[in-house]
Amino acid sequence: MRNDKSILKIMIKDHCKIEELINDLEKSSKSNFESMTNAFSKFEWELEKHIFIEEKAIFTSYSPEDVIEGYKMLPELTKQHNYIINTLNNWREDVRKRRIIKDVYSFKEFIIKHKNFEEEKVYPKLDKSLTYNVKQQIIAKIKEIA
Ligand SMILES: [Fe+2]
Ligand SMILES: [Fe+2]
Repeated sequence: MRNDKSILKIMIKDHCKIEELINDLEKSSKSNFESMTNAFSKFEWELEKHIFIEEKAIFTSYSPEDVIEGYKMLPELTKQHNYIINTLNNWREDVRKRRIIKDVYSFKEFIIKHKNFEEEKVYPKLDKSLTYNVKQQIIAKIKEIA
């Protein structure tokens, strides 16, 4: 069997889903509080699951061939994920206090940059460096959650 299943492909699908959900959130944050709350809880759920998968199932298995370049990527990813988690925490607090979520557009731009970074730099490298068995283990873990 060839190693033709890519983690990149699976994660691109997830990225598309998240992009759709933040578009919904952006629209609903301009309409009414109830629909904004619904859109936020769907968006939050998918995004937290996604980051959990990346940090606990995928990036932990990454041991790059090019150590210097490879390990530069990981702190950058963690930094971006922390910013994402922080924003979600702030927005959750807004929803709890019945405040309208603000600056959805600029967060969407950040998310898009982050996803492009992963799709162009991180996942292609990862797919190249992982062995067939490790990749299958990761894909099984992703399927348990996604
Ligand atoms: Fe990510
Ligand atoms: Fe991602």
